[in-house]
Amino acid sequence: MTDSPVVLGIESSCDETGAGLVRNGRLLGHAVASSMDEHARFGGVVPEIAARAHVHSFNPVVHRALEEAGLRMSDIGAVAVTTGPGLAGALQVGVAGAKGLAYALDVPLYGVHHLAGHVAADALAHGPLPDPCVVLIVSGGHTSLLLVRDLARDPITHLGDTLDDAAGECFDKVARVFGLPYPGGPAIDRAARDGDPSAVAFPRPLTGARDDPYAFSFSGLKTAAARWAEQRRGTGLAVADGAAALQEAVADVLTRKAVAACREYGVTTLVVVGGVAANSRVRSLADERCAAAGITLRVPPMGLCTDNGAMIAAVGDLLVRAGAEPAPLDVSIDPSAPLERAALHPAPRPSARPVAA
Ligand code: KG4
Ligand code: ZN
Repeated sequence: MTDSPVVLGIESSCDETGAGLVRNGRLLGHAVASSMDEHARFGGVVPEIAARAHVHSFNPVVHRALEEAGLRMSDIGAVAVTTGPGLAGALQVGVAGAKGLAYALDVPLYGVHHLAGHVAADALAHGPLPDPCVVLIVSGGHTSLLLVRDLARDPITHLGDTLDDAAGECFDKVARVFGLPYPGGPAIDRAARDGDPSAVAFPRPLTGARDDPYAFSFSGLKTAAARWAEQRRGTGLAVADGAAALQEAVADVLTRKAVAACREYGVTTLVVVGGVAANSRVRSLADERCAAAGITLRVPPMGLCTDNGAMIAAVGDLLVRAGAEPAPLDVSIDPSAPLERAALHPAPRPSARPVAA
């Protein structure tokens, strides 16, 4: 095992430039630079600004990660990079940089699905993921409930996805209407601390008896929160109450469905990952409900929930150790890649065990 190479992971799909170094499932060091402040006055990520910021941050971030790990460039034995999904221009910068490094160092290159990175992030903090586990991915662009077997070898089963907005998108958009700063998720979380979650009865979309048990929908909730804010305008908007009630509705729906999936599939571990996994109420309600259902809950530490390079290195490390085929040097980005496998190029042979539906 000790001869497995140090994997450098590069992340540049949105507004964070991340570099991380992982070997044998162990995080050796990582660094992140964010262009978030440059987007704040536009109220959302501006793709061209994000791409330019990645160009500026790429080298410094790689060097900071190496410094933190106490390693040199020549210690890198493989490079993994997010090839999708994400903003095309932003992805291009990371992929071009990663190709340059892999070529110059003469080491293999691996193309990684960004969301598989979010899943693998938890393994860096809490050890290998059990097979199988249910994974709830909640980020700014995605909300999915997955059945994950061997992340490096097996296809990923989607139990349910959002039909419209992602949970993070709902937080970000409602925060704007509430007059809270960008990014909206953390701002809602902070504002909710002083609010009463039962002050407003926001809907719990797709939780009826006849609804798809694992599909999500957040656009109706977003509209309900926006309408509530508009109706109260001029009467003194109780932002804290609105934020607390919205956060409660989102956390309720997410955790209710995730626990139900674990029960139905007889899975004893739930992993909650992605930017919204940083939400304090999502974390505490998941904790409560998993404890009550006898399910082990795993949530990565805050710094590994939002986008970073360590999580991409973690997938690269799993792929290397599974004997995956490296990506060709002309591998291209896939901005809207569906989450089917961790690697965005030929996968290693599936594990011997059959993949349950
Ligand atoms: O995973 P991520 O960093 O980027 C994507 O791949 O999308 O997730 C970003 C999302 C944003 O929507 C942000 O508002 C949300 O995660 N987020 C939060 C919190 N921290 C980040 N949402 C709610 N509460 C938080 N504390
Ligand atoms: Zn992400």
